[in-house]
Amino acid sequence: MHKTAYRMHTCGELQKSDVGKNVILCGWVMRRRDHGGLVFVDLRDRYGLTQIVLDPSKAENIKPEYVVCVSGKVRVRPSGMINAKLATGEIEVPADSAEILSESKTPPFEIDSEKEVNEELRLEYRYLDLRRERMQKNIILRHKLVKFVRDFFDKKDFLEIETPVLIKGTPEGSREYIVPSRLYPGKFYVLPQSPQQLKQLLMVAGFDKYFQIVKCFRDEDQRGDRQPEFTQIDIEMSFVDVADILSINEELVLELLRKFAIGKKITTPVPRLTWQEAMDKYGSDKPDLRIGMEIFDITDIVAGSSFKVFSETKKSGGFVRAINVVGGSKFSRKELDDLDAMAKTFGAGGLMHLIIEKEGIKSPVAKYLNEKELSEITKIAGAKNGDCILICAGNFKTVCEALSNARLACAAKLNLIDKNTFALCWITDFPMFEINKETKKIDSCHHPFTAPLDEDADLLKKEPIKARAKAYDLVINGLEIASGSIRIHDSKLQSTIFDILGITHEDAKNRFGHLLRAFEYGPPPHGGIAWGIDRFIMMICDEPNIREVIAFPKDQKAKDLMTGAPSNLPDSQVKEMHIMVSRFA
Ligand code: AMO
Repeated sequence: MHKTAYRMHTCGELQKSDVGKNVILCGWVMRRRDHGGLVFVDLRDRYGLTQIVLDPSKAENIKPEYVVCVSGKVRVRPSGMINAKLATGEIEVPADSAEILSESKTPPFEIDSEKEVNEELRLEYRYLDLRRERMQKNIILRHKLVKFVRDFFDKKDFLEIETPVLIKGTPEGSREYIVPSRLYPGKFYVLPQSPQQLKQLLMVAGFDKYFQIVKCFRDEDQRGDRQPEFTQIDIEMSFVDVADILSINEELVLELLRKFAIGKKITTPVPRLTWQEAMDKYGSDKPDLRIGMEIFDITDIVAGSSFKVFSETKKSGGFVRAINVVGGSKFSRKELDDLDAMAKTFGAGGLMHLIIEKEGIKSPVAKYLNEKELSEITKIAGAKNGDCILICAGNFKTVCEALSNARLACAAKLNLIDKNTFALCWITDFPMFEINKETKKIDSCHHPFTAPLDEDADLLKKEPIKARAKAYDLVINGLEIASGSIRIHDSKLQSTIFDILGITHEDAKNRFGHLLRAFEYGPPPHGGIAWGIDRFIMMICDEPNIREVIAFPKDQKAKDLMTGAPSNLPDSQVKEMHIMVSRFA
């Protein structure tokens, strides 16, 4: 199968059953060891390693990372030299000839080692970095996983349909990458943040079930789980409601985890939490369910307390909530201070603690709470000797943020996170809208085409901010893997939503005219979802960031260190695009 003009076999396939065969192998010199008057070379390709034995006269010029072509007769290794860990570990090939096909400079880092290498250097020489076993494993797994996804959807009658990469700018969500038009001075295409509107148009076109493994582009601040260009498994279906989308995606995620995350525990059935439940229990819409430590509410218990921080909170419509950290009594003063400081970064006054000890409760705030209050708190917490209750008072958002982060920090400190488990959950019924921190205006939480829950239709008129959406996320181990919604297919409802968002008729026509026009021609009820495939693979490969599962990623500052993009272009080329760059001025 691998036989070509240059070779007969790969470096990963020869076995004891091949002993006696004349073979020709090509590959890179991984290691060279000189001993006993012989030279041993591990020849490497993406399939594996084969030990080649050379007479020193034939090995004189052979150095690490040279590409060589070796011919010889396969033989069994001497018994002491068998390597059970290697697929080809029982054989070796004494070389009759070894031809150098190409030479290599000394690489800037060792290919053959697990040693940490500076990431900038790895990205600059990505082609060498990709030769390393860890990267080869990740990229090969990625191929297999994506192929599995394609087959899964194909079997279920989905069509993979390509959508354009040069599209019309419809500013919403994150910043778009823009592409100037040469033919139309001063006009621009943008690169899609996702094929959202196009996949909806494919539903209007009657394709019924669409998916695409597709590149998306977002000019946003980088993080470990974000890239300016990343890949989605994008899905849209007609004549569906929330349950249909959740069920097919749940089937896919479980099949993928069973196939590719071998040996890991998967928590099934997959729980479905409403956004409100997730926020109340975990303070986050991306809860890590490998950790227990649920939040509980003590607002009413302490409403009459002499401690003003607590009693005033209730009066101002806020919440007093807490978590019980089992074994948290071992936290040092400094660790408690750090948790307190972290809570303050989210706008909380602080994080108070009650340490449960045999002799009683130790806490700087215990003196403000009476017997009854303390006993009710410990009861609802289920706290025992050796535990520590952490309490936060404030508005809903602050309390959620402070306690969800405290929960994660405590779990990490106490080593409570089982690295061998994938804990999945669906979060549903997100709010339709949120208030934008900067503009103070109402924004969509997901996007403006997301349908509200049927029972919240009335709220849209009265109190839109309280309306909930047919929107859902798939979360695994605290990471948002996929996100989607049922769309609005009724133009009256769509206008209502635009009104709430302050999008004028004119503005809507300019930005989404194509979609609105299409919706005048019989749009089917439809909905969909998109997975961040890089994130999912990163999790399966147990990698700390998505750059490790992308062949040619950008660095944290959106730069391509290998090619040097973004780069200057010749002035003539830039001018041809009708662009004035300030350096020309
Ligand atoms: P959303 O914007 O939530 O939804 O994106 C879907 C999923 O894509 C992944 N993701 C990213 N991965 C890497 N780098 C990024 N910069 C990045 N941004 C997002 C996340 C996220 O859950 N069109 C809608 C989906 C729909 O409604 O069908 C959309 O794109 O895993």
